[in-house]
Amino acid sequence: MKKIIITIDGYSSCGKSTLAKQLARELDYVYIDSGAMYRAITLYFIQNRVDWANSAAVAEALTNIQLEFEYDELHHEQASMYLNGENVEPLIRDMVVADKVSEVAAIREVREFAVAQQQQMGEKKGIVMDGRDIGTTVFPHAELKIFMTADTAIRVERRFRELYAKNKNITLQEVKENLELRDYIDSNREISPLRKAADAIILDNSQLSMDEQLQLALQWVEDATMVQSS
Ligand code: CDP
Ligand code: CDP
Repeated sequence: MKKIIITIDGYSSCGKSTLAKQLARELDYVYIDSGAMYRAITLYFIQNRVDWANSAAVAEALTNIQLEFEYDELHHEQASMYLNGENVEPLIRDMVVADKVSEVAAIREVREFAVAQQQQMGEKKGIVMDGRDIGTTVFPHAELKIFMTADTAIRVERRFRELYAKNKNITLQEVKENLELRDYIDSNREISPLRKAADAIILDNSQLSMDEQLQLALQWVEDATMVQSS
């Protein structure tokens, strides 16, 4: 089958990365977690006390940031994020980063820095990338665009369970506030706000199991690939 670009955008914690990994595994594609890049940049800004209200300071800091993904052998599973040679995977998932990432991701220089790298990663096709602006800005000509959503209460519950397994001090309220704040900032920022691309297919997985969401998406991939090769 001809390799295409698959974009998955949507609100926080609705299952984008879960579906992206499932598809990468099934199709033998490369999975790219664009959110991890914004999280790693945010971590760098926090650790180095970068004043991100100051665009000169942001531009200077970005020249010192090198981002890389490390993959499992087949490129599908856990892609650890490396920041300047260091595996920052657990750190970037922490609430300290989650609390600031949407602010940092709204900065023009930060988006230009990340988007340029993301576009390069798609040059050979055969990728599935998840994020907020992948179908609208990063790959506006992608062959298959999915826009995921799920009820807020379900998304909060899903993310809470994930974080609670690692940190028993986390509260449902804290997770809810973080999700709602990020969704608000991400949807209302000036540059590349979270929007459904006009040609994206909506996938509401509130009531879907992981397998059901995969089967639906695989059908869309088949359709998109057929259009592609016809
Ligand atoms: O996993 P979750 O959906 O909670 O977030 P993520 O995909 O790791 O993204 C973290 C944050 O990075 C988002 O809330 C956005 O502020 C930002 N982001 C973005 O602006 N554009 C993207 N393509 C991906 C993430
Ligand atoms: O990438 P995003 O933030 O959109 O979400 P995720 O990290 O893929 O999924 C958030 C949580 O929802 C994970 O713990 C998934 O296992 C879970 N999930 C689910 O329970 N049912 C689905 N149909 C999809 C994801």
